[in-house]
This record gives sequence, structure tokens and C-alpha cells, in this order.
Amino acid sequence: MELPREMPELTAERGYRLRGWREADTELLREAAADPYIPLITTVPAPYGEAAAAVFLERQWRRTEIGTGYPFVLVDPEGRPVGHVGLWVADLALRGYASTGYWLAPSARGRGAAGIGLRAVTRWAREELGIARLELHVEPWNTASLRTAERSGYRRAELRPAHQQVGGEPRDMWRYVGP
Ligand SMILES: CC(C)(COP(=O)(O)OP(=O)(O)OC[C@H]1O[C@@H](n2cnc3c(N)ncnc32)[C@H](O)[C@@H]1OP(=O)(O)O)[C@@H](O)C(=O)NCCC(=O)NCCS
Repeated sequence: MELPREMPELTAERGYRLRGWREADTELLREAAADPYIPLITTVPAPYGEAAAAVFLERQWRRTEIGTGYPFVLVDPEGRPVGHVGLWVADLALRGYASTGYWLAPSARGRGAAGIGLRAVTRWAREELGIARLELHVEPWNTASLRTAERSGYRRAELRPAHQQVGGEPRDMWRYVGP
């Protein structure tokens, strides 16, 4: 199937929704940049700066234009952008898997919002895009993320030694396979 080159809007549980990045989302980016972990596992620029934020936004829009991924902003029921869920398809043809990833602004945590976003994007990938195989990777200490994956129907596959560099260090990660 030909994958879309535009970001859709998705509805999710409890009044949340997902959409592409907008210029007005820089406050979310500023909060994410101040988190100790998010910049280590994403391309969120830290420290935050206007020019780096503009480059980040351009990069997200480009990912969809060139067909490598769908970076969604998660919006809460009050309309506040609170986090990010990505669907990455660059390796789909080569490996047969698309991957997902997520983070929340620290102020939006503790309410299961990441799972709400992950379930909506996973359903869209499977049902609308016809992607049969999804995976994600989580560090073993990251209980909130492990629970988010499991509550969204992902099941633990294997531990991948030194799977990814995090802050310049190779880190082991559990590979999870999507529902
Ligand atoms: C991972 C992350 C997205 C989860 O956000 P969240 O949706 O607010 O997650 P919650 O705090 O609601 O926790 C999800 C579940 O984990 C449980 N949990 C969280 N921290 C826990 C801990 N230290 N010990 C045990 N359980 C814990 C919660 O009780 C909840 O369980 P439930 O599903 O049974 O209710 C968020 O912490 C984050 O953005 N972290 C930084 C970036 C990151 O790690 N991204 C993922 C990379 S793989």
C-alpha cells in the first residue's frame, strides 16, 4: 500500500487526539527539552532555543513528506499539546517492521496519556495503513514505559544488548512487538 504523505488527525480515548506538529507547539518542545531523558532518546534540541526549535519542526514535517515517519503531537481534552507519539516507517520495506515511540511533557505524566496516544497510533497503523508488524524498544529500568507498552497490547520479545546509544552510552533495550 502507498503510505500517505500528510499527517492525519486521530481521535483517541478520553477526549485526547493526535495531529501533526505546529509552530505553536514550541512550549511543548521547551518543556521536553528541559527533561533529563527525552533529549537523549529523541532529536528534541537541548538546551531549548528558537532556532533549534524551528529546525526540529522542519525535520518533523519533512519526515512525513519524504515518507519516513509520522510524528504526532498528543493533545489533551482541554486542547493542550502534552506529548508526542511517533510512527516510524523508514525500515518497513527492509525489515518488515515499523516502530513506535512516545514521550510526555513531565507536567502531563501519571494519567496514562502515553498509552492513550500509543493505542490510537497503533490502531491507525494497523487498520488504516495496513502495517502488520510494529515494534518498540524500552530500557529495562523504565517501568512507566514498559507498562505503557504492555497496556497497549505490545508483548515483550527479547532483550537487545547495546541496542541504542543513550547519552553517548550503548544501552540494552527490551524489544516489544505490537498487537
Ligand atoms: C514513559 C512515559 C511516556 C509514560 O507516561 P505516562 O502515560 O504518564 O505513564 P504513567 O505514569 O501513567 O504510568 C504508566 C503505568 O506505569 C505505572 N508506573 C509508572 N511508574 C512506575 C514505577 N516507578 N513503578 C511501577 N509502576 C509504575 C503506572 O502506575 C501506570 O500503570 P497502569 O497502566 O497499571 O495504571 C513518560 O514517563 C515519559 O515521557 N518518560 C520520558 C520519556 C520516555 O521514557 N519515553 C519512553 C521511551 S521508551
